[in-house]
Amino acid sequence: MRKRFIIAIDGPSGAGKSTTARLLAKRMGYIYVDTGAMYRAIAWKAKEKGIDVKDESSLERLGKETEIEIRLISGEERIFIDNMDASNYIRTPEIGMLSSKVSAATCVRKRLLELQRQFGKEGGAVLEGRDIGTVVFPDADIKFFLDADVKERGRRRYSELKAKGLDIKIEDTTEDIRKRDHNDTKRDIAPLCIAEDAIVIDSTGLDAEGVVKKMLNEISKKQVKAKTPHLNPLPIGERK
Ligand code: DC
Repeated sequence: MRKRFIIAIDGPSGAGKSTTARLLAKRMGYIYVDTGAMYRAIAWKAKEKGIDVKDESSLERLGKETEIEIRLISGEERIFIDNMDASNYIRTPEIGMLSSKVSAATCVRKRLLELQRQFGKEGGAVLEGRDIGTVVFPDADIKFFLDADVKERGRRRYSELKAKGLDIKIEDTTEDIRKRDHNDTKRDIAPLCIAEDAIVIDSTGLDAEGVVKKMLNEISKKQVKAKTPHLNPLPIGERK
């Protein structure tokens, strides 16, 4: 077992993975890797170039020639595509749906798998996505599967997009989530599923702090069991 853990968080859209993973990484002093943002980056670039997401050979070329980086700017992770900050362009419902389609392409998954393994290889990382505990890091030190009721996930996505000023309906965001659940769980390669050794957390009725508290509790148990030097992941004010 590594001294600085690799922490995998998988789960469906809208379960709260990004918020909790970011918070958890901060508490642990680890890096946070949003793997969905990488699929979104490829989807965004495909759209910009007018590439059909079903055209595997064009996608393969695109994947090879696209440089994806995560840079920490003023304490916030930003996604750079070919040296340009694309963070504000990739969070739309359209790119969400396109990325779900792009992520079914073997060539894209192969390219991003290498990149994701690079980010996590030293440990001290919280990676969040759909296949982290099953494919990217099957030997992760601890795996969480974060789930929530589909209506609750639709409501959360609706509030998020509404706060950004988008003119949307809650029925549409919920339907969008259902479609993405279908795409992400039914695809042939690396479908979303619960790893055998994952700890399942249902976030319906819990806020991000509540979820992170549960995660930190499980991590502490693992650390004690592994006799790793205790990292005391609690923020300074809460330390005993
Ligand atoms: O988490 P997200 O909504 O930003 O992810 C966008 C899409 O990317 C999602 O619908 C499925 C895909 N994805 C994936 O297939 N594997 C991952 N590890 C992360 C995301």
